[in-house]
Amino acid sequence: MKEKTVLGIESTAHTLGAGIASIDERGKIGLKSNALDRVPGTKKGFVPRLLAEHHEKIFKKTVEKALSEAELKLGEIDAIAFSQGPGMGHALRIGFVGAKALSEFAGVPLLPVHHGVAHCEVGKWERSFKDPLILYVSGGNTQIIILDTKAKRYHVLGETLDVGVGNFLDVFARQFGLNNAVEVMHQAEKGETLLELPYTIKGMNTSFTGLETFATRNYKPKVDAGSVRLEDVCFSVQETVFAILVEATERALFHSQKKEVLVCGGVACNTRLKEMLAVMCKENGVRFGAASDQFNRDNGAMIALVGAKMLSAGFKPQPNVEPIQRMRPEDQEIIWA
Ligand code: FE2
Repeated sequence: MKEKTVLGIESTAHTLGAGIASIDERGKIGLKSNALDRVPGTKKGFVPRLLAEHHEKIFKKTVEKALSEAELKLGEIDAIAFSQGPGMGHALRIGFVGAKALSEFAGVPLLPVHHGVAHCEVGKWERSFKDPLILYVSGGNTQIIILDTKAKRYHVLGETLDVGVGNFLDVFARQFGLNNAVEVMHQAEKGETLLELPYTIKGMNTSFTGLETFATRNYKPKVDAGSVRLEDVCFSVQETVFAILVEATERALFHSQKKEVLVCGGVACNTRLKEMLAVMCKENGVRFGAASDQFNRDNGAMIALVGAKMLSAGFKPQPNVEPIQRMRPEDQEIIWA
């Protein structure tokens, strides 16, 4: 088999991404481009219809950018991969329709990819991990995952019982007049006093909504009155939720006996979370690694990477494929495992 090249389309939420990956006959992956355009977050959050309008407007330009960065033409692409889910319905559909049209026009297979599996796979590729325990943390998702090679499926050991940690941090940010989780991180860097907050962990599962309600009810009036510093609330929220995540990951580590821990997804851009996970991994004598920020943020290159693995493992395209808003990691067969 000569080298195969796949174009990947990402459109689960605020980002429209197009990236290109290649795979040679020995299974060696190369990433050739990673073009994207992102709708910036606001205090009002995201309006699904407006995300879809953005993705539709920017689709052609982003795909052209990915092709030109990789110095390829559409006719040289062997398959089109797209993020099938989970995600916001309006946004998912634009990526799906665009990818489907490209695959029909070019006469190449259409490959459905789970967004979270793509974050896991690109992180493993980047850090040269063989079989890690994975903490996948993003806006809509918070899951502790391992690959079951016999079942050829990713298996979720623990997860949030309500909202994803990224969405929790975004909602908390807005309650306190900040724009998003990144601003919470910057405020937290200036905090020093640890305030009391609920700490919810059930086995390897977590929960965040009670913490958000508690912080808003108890500390918002005090921040407004100037008796508690916003920096200290942000610091305390981060220390508490990340401690919950690290504890759940450590329990999963004992259970799974893995020798590597990977953190990936949008919240894995947070330096404090990585610092805390690194300490836990060092104490347990296991390797720790994080995907780089360009792959922790939503992007098309990771979708292309999984598409390339599927193509090389002989994936047979299915008829009537559709986006799946509430898709789970177990829903994707890992045929290359
Ligand atoms: Fe993501």
